[in-house]
Amino acid sequence: MSEAFTKSGTSIPFIGLGTWDMQGSTCSSIVQEALEMGYRHIDGASMYENESEVGKGLSDSGVDREEIFITTKINTISWTPSKGNGPPLQNKDIVKHFEKSLKDLQTDYVDLLLIHWPKFETNLGDMLEILYKLKDVKKIKEVGVANFNSHLVNECISLGFKDIYCNQVEYHPFLSQAKLLEVMQDFEIIPVAYCPICRGDVARHDVILSLSEKYSKTPAQIALRWLYQQKVVSIPKTENSYRLRENIDIFDFEIEYKDMLEIYTLDRNQRLVPNLEINELEYPFD
Ligand SMILES: NC(=O)c1ccc[n+]([C@@H]2O[C@H](COP(=O)([O-])OP(=O)(O)OC[C@H]3O[C@@H](n4cnc5c(N)ncnc54)[C@H](OP(=O)(O)O)[C@@H]3O)[C@@H](O)[C@H]2O)c1
Repeated sequence: MSEAFTKSGTSIPFIGLGTWDMQGSTCSSIVQEALEMGYRHIDGASMYENESEVGKGLSDSGVDREEIFITTKINTISWTPSKGNGPPLQNKDIVKHFEKSLKDLQTDYVDLLLIHWPKFETNLGDMLEILYKLKDVKKIKEVGVANFNSHLVNECISLGFKDIYCNQVEYHPFLSQAKLLEVMQDFEIIPVAYCPICRGDVARHDVILSLSEKYSKTPAQIALRWLYQQKVVSIPKTENSYRLRENIDIFDFEIEYKDMLEIYTLDRNQRLVPNLEINELEYPFD
């Protein structure tokens, strides 16, 4: 079972299961297995084109809905793996798209709804208004964002949206997010790390390998524990039973401060998911 972080009465487990790139019965059965194993946080998105399979896994697990923290994301840019770029999602269609996510996930509400990419038909303020209305009618518990850099986080605050729950961004030992994390901390926005084990690359670095030996933990566990000790939530994806167990088994050891610092030195600005949709001139990377 994962420990959780609580903000404004909503608790998000520090370890969740990422569901990008999982399809069909593999997806349903790994979601079910994760929940049976003690996972209580599932990260999904309409863009992943697998929400009915995630919904089947949630339902087959038999775990009470109230016990599970479910995230989905609004696909404002209408990009999907099967169709590539579609016409940008019109604001008037957002609620309809979100209702489809709810139906596929077989639930009446989600715990967290994120803007998947910071690019919109009109503007950030309009988009956030629509999401907060969904919160008012209790179809979502919290509103969050993803792939927002520090400029965009500041823009949310200056627009008056001061209770953004989290910002989900790429973060792992090879990509520093120091500046962004500092800004998020100022506004008490929870950091959620995607690609937390750099899609397995952490197991190919000598420093991580030697820490893995020192603590008798796997390289993935070292990376996930390093994030947890910074109070960062992680959503590693796996469709493999023994890795599922490995990725949540990080709460019984502690990385020493000097080793935490050594992992920070591994930054090489490695981005697996370039934020191509951000206008880089207006909003440069942090
Ligand atoms: N908001 C966004 O724009 C955004 C972008 C990217 C991702 N995400 C979310 O973040 C989640 C995680 O990111 P990700 O899937 O890109 O990367 P990741 O979780 O860092 O890595 C997943 C990859 O690592 C392997 N793996 C999993 N556990 C492992 C372990 N203990 N040891 C070695 N290899 C392991 C998996 O293979 P096996 O499946 O074979 O184990 C898979 O190939 C996604 O699934 C998605 O939910 C969000």
